[in-house]
Amino acid sequence: MDRDLSRAALLRPQGLRIAGRITNAVPFTERHLRNPAYLSWLHDREVVRTIGRPDYVAAPVPLSVVEDYVARITVSDCDLFLALYHTADDHFVGTLKAGHIDWHQGTGDIGIMIGEKGYWGRGLATDAIGALAQHLYDVLGLRRLTAGSMGINPAMVKVFEKLGFCREGVLRKHLRHEESFCDHILLGCFRNELRLPKS
Ligand SMILES: CC(C)(COP(=O)(O)OP(=O)(O)OC[C@H]1O[C@@H](n2cnc3c(N)ncnc32)[C@H](O)[C@@H]1OP(=O)(O)O)[C@@H](O)C(=O)NCCC(=O)NCCS
Repeated sequence: MDRDLSRAALLRPQGLRIAGRITNAVPFTERHLRNPAYLSWLHDREVVRTIGRPDYVAAPVPLSVVEDYVARITVSDCDLFLALYHTADDHFVGTLKAGHIDWHQGTGDIGIMIGEKGYWGRGLATDAIGALAQHLYDVLGLRRLTAGSMGINPAMVKVFEKLGFCREGVLRKHLRHEESFCDHILLGCFRNELRLPKS
């Protein structure tokens, strides 16, 4: 089989569902793109202020830009873009991503956006990232995962640290935040460092 095809098949096999204890994630599709909740999250300044996209904070991102992004990322063989659900009520609450997968280095970078603010602080990010990390190590065979967080987002840093990610560096005042700049905190985790939440 063509190498790129085999990677795409490995990334998004038929029926892929990454299940944690309280969340599950499936490949992001047109159905999620057309769900009005998705664009409303990207237009919510409280949600996007910590995703490192000052352009989304400055002005509502046009649907055409989002469509282009989704079209690219959902076929990429180095990105896995997922729609995240709260399992108990089957509610679409956000997105989860393993990006910049480098198959040669065995690395990938994790990102998350829980757009439904009523679900913040209920352990969803910890559960979903833990399940995704386990999948990336055990199924895709990656050896090292990375993540980044704005310094103004202590909840995100706490989630990664609870899961065993280590702070590996700080890019000082690297990211634009409102009229100023904030630190970019870099985290990393090897397979043997991952600590999944106890059930
Ligand atoms: C950041 C985000 C992913 C967190 O998701 P979540 O589901 O609320 O996270 P969890 O509930 O699993 O864990 C949050 C932890 O941070 C803690 N926390 C919350 N606010 C905090 C603060 N200001 N300072 C320190 N810790 C804080 C919580 O107490 C919790 O820890 P605990 O379980 O030990 O009590 C979510 O708020 C979000 O998606 N925000 C918008 C987009 C975003 O910032 N994405 C990340 C881009 S890198």
